[in-house]
Amino acid sequence: MSTVAAADAILGTYRRAPMELVRGAGVELFDTDGKAYLDFVAGIAVNALGYGDPGLADAMHGALASGLVHVSNLYRTSPGEQLAEKLVASSFADRVFFCNSGAEANEGAFKVARRWARGQAPSKHEIVALRGAFHGRLFGTLAATDRPQYRMPFRPLAGGVSIAERDLGELEGLLNPETVAAVIVEPVQGEGGVRVLDHEFLRGLRALTKERNVLLILDEIQCGYGRTGTFWAYEQAGITPDVLTTAKPMAGGLPMGAILMTEDVASAMQPGDHGTTFGGGPLVASAALHVFDRLHDPALLQHVTDNGVWLGTALRGLAERLPKVRAVRGVGYMWGIDVTDAAKDVIARALDLGLLLCSAGEHTIRLLPPLVMSRADLERGVRLLEQAIG
Ligand SMILES: Cc1ncc(COP(=O)(O)O)c(C=O)c1O
Repeated sequence: MSTVAAADAILGTYRRAPMELVRGAGVELFDTDGKAYLDFVAGIAVNALGYGDPGLADAMHGALASGLVHVSNLYRTSPGEQLAEKLVASSFADRVFFCNSGAEANEGAFKVARRWARGQAPSKHEIVALRGAFHGRLFGTLAATDRPQYRMPFRPLAGGVSIAERDLGELEGLLNPETVAAVIVEPVQGEGGVRVLDHEFLRGLRALTKERNVLLILDEIQCGYGRTGTFWAYEQAGITPDVLTTAKPMAGGLPMGAILMTEDVASAMQPGDHGTTFGGGPLVASAALHVFDRLHDPALLQHVTDNGVWLGTALRGLAERLPKVRAVRGVGYMWGIDVTDAAKDVIARALDLGLLLCSAGEHTIRLLPPLVMSRADLERGVRLLEQAIG
């Protein structure tokens, strides 16, 4: 038996910031010394409602009062069914499969796509992802993630998954209806540097995938659920997918993901084709019902849209003033700022100033504030950001 300090007992897959967080309130987190941090990370696009949302606590307490945290998917429970109904009513989808994380949602989406495609041609199984994509770190999703440093140590990766350029001409050559089952796309690439995919490109890809009988899977794990100012990011491009994956903000910080799909795709899936012990249990689904209602509110979406426009103007102004800023990209409450310094140095300086930031690449700062953050707090954050960069 070995003895290690408590913090060292955790596998070192993250370079954690040094402070220990003990409390959250509104859009701020507090460490053991009582120091406050304005949160522009939101637990990596999870805590859309910030910290201490009373309705979220009530939803969880209500669920706990029933005594049902979990019963498995062998039995029916109401919160998951109600949530699926809301997701279907709010989207292109006819059916929903619940799981527990983003990568798990994408792995499931790949299975669904292959099951659908196999019914059409025995060789139709390939999944195509795009340059700059991040879809997760499990085997199938890692093969669809365009980050050499994440991939290299784990080769060989899952087969039948490839990365293509974000270029319709190249995709036209690649999407063979006999062999390709699906293309997976983040409408706004998150980890890959916050790249808002051109709406014309998305419309062209939708038309091409339809023409080639290839499924379009949209990964809205980071950019969906209101973060871009519409509930689903795809609404802004005027397209609908065949399959969509969501996760991060769904259950207010409890682990939850979902795969949404059309009836055509769903009809290929039979009992036993996929499964999960925990997915869609009554506690997470009760929390998720509250989150859905809050984030689907037109007033909240308008607030994200308006403040997102303001944020874009403010960040472009910052780029004009600061020679260290090379580019600014984003929409709504999801922005990337390319800086000449290492992103980790800017993040460390911001931490000292009481602002939490994360990165999206070695020289890209990523801003993902809680969606409830007010204009005044955004302004305060941008001022601190300017100090941290400058
Ligand atoms: C677009 C996208 N897809 C998939 C994932 C993987 O989600 P998870 O970390 O919950 O497995 C992420 C996480 O950052 C993501 O941003």
